[in-house]
Amino acid sequence: MNTPRTLGTPLSPTATKVMLLGSGELGKEVIIALQRLGVEVIAVDRYPNAPGHQVAHRAHVINMTDGDALAALIEQEKPDLVVPEIEAIATDKLAELEQAGKITCIPTARAAQLTMNREGIRRLAAETLGIATSPYRFASSLEELAAGAEAVGFPCVIKPVMSSSGKGQSKIDSAAEVKAAWDYAAAGSRVDSGRVIVEGFIDFDYEITLLTVRSLGEDGQVITQYCEPIGHVQVQGDYVESWQPCRMDPVALVRARDIAGKVTADLGGLGLFGVELFVKDDMVWFSEVSPRPHDTGMVTMATQVQSEFELHAKAILGLPVNVALKAPGASAVIYGQHEAAGIAFEGVADALRVPNTDIRLFGKPESFARRRMGVALATADDVETARVNAKLAASKVKPVLAK
Ligand SMILES: Nc1ncnc2c1ncn2[C@@H]1O[C@H](COP(=O)(O)OP(=O)(O)OP(=O)(O)O)[C@@H](O)[C@H]1O
Ligand SMILES: [Mg+2]
Repeated sequence: MNTPRTLGTPLSPTATKVMLLGSGELGKEVIIALQRLGVEVIAVDRYPNAPGHQVAHRAHVINMTDGDALAALIEQEKPDLVVPEIEAIATDKLAELEQAGKITCIPTARAAQLTMNREGIRRLAAETLGIATSPYRFASSLEELAAGAEAVGFPCVIKPVMSSSGKGQSKIDSAAEVKAAWDYAAAGSRVDSGRVIVEGFIDFDYEITLLTVRSLGEDGQVITQYCEPIGHVQVQGDYVESWQPCRMDPVALVRARDIAGKVTADLGGLGLFGVELFVKDDMVWFSEVSPRPHDTGMVTMATQVQSEFELHAKAILGLPVNVALKAPGASAVIYGQHEAAGIAFEGVADALRVPNTDIRLFGKPESFARRRMGVALATADDVETARVNAKLAASKVKPVLAK
């Protein structure tokens, strides 16, 4: 395990095979990075023609929460590495296969298990590792939630334990709103486990993603490196813009790295992690972590020598990585705006006329009003200019219905 991989030739007996579980826009970029190293890539998602399917050697459509279906596909493809790119996967099955020595899961099956449920990662960070988080309670009934909300105080945030992208999440100011928050959480949960977390609201100055990479050093030991912090703005639990570097109080930066180092060391394995943190003055709270590239980290496609996707691809193969910043920059999300299949995008040329910008369109077969369909990237001498230009470029891309 602790030696770099010898890379093979794809579609031949020497092939180094990697299976991506989840093939959205983040998986697509990891696949492209792997393709550049001659890795044979198998892309899996729950619907056909997902972004990553379009750039992989082979594509499969299965329900990844079905453990038997997942195990059968792994048995068929026999990948060297299994790389979860989303949370909604039968992670218990991955743990079983890893335990039996049948797969190497990135970063570890345990990390995938712990982070797919807010309860696992929160208890680990706060109770086992003693890291600062918002005050929290878990609840499995309306009564428990009401008591939990009183305990953490108002305002508070209620989230299903299994959800992402802000689904089922609400902020409430008083006990009168608890019932509505409970009902909303039940509707937005990925699995209707009927369990929620209620967190005290942190009145942070700003929030960051600290991309943290665990890769192999020359002596075969795992080394941990940190990218420059990424600032971001979230609307309804979904990121709308991000920038790098995010200026930080030096004490807060040290604390942020300390937290990220502790959490990622415990989760273990090789690869890139997105550690989400809240910051106020020199105080830092851990929020959550993705054991994989992070959506706010798409900015690194413009700002870093190696994007977060390239860092992940290299780290998981046991190769050295370079986390250096190339230029300050920003990203701004392009939403679908329409509910339709096969939409078109006008104005891409206008977007690219904004200085030092670039565009990614993910190629998602179907658009929803609030679905992320693409992203605009910008670099500049300073982050402020880059943010203005990224948003300007994004605004020039107009999703339209096909004629
Ligand atoms: N306790 C809190 N105090 C203040 N703001 C919060 C709190 N919890 C969440 N938020 C806000 O809501 C956003 C989304 O929360 P969180 O990351 O927990 O949800 P998520 O569904 O996992 O989102 P994503 O999948 O996009 O990361 C946070 O980035 C932050 O802006
Ligand atoms: Mg989050």
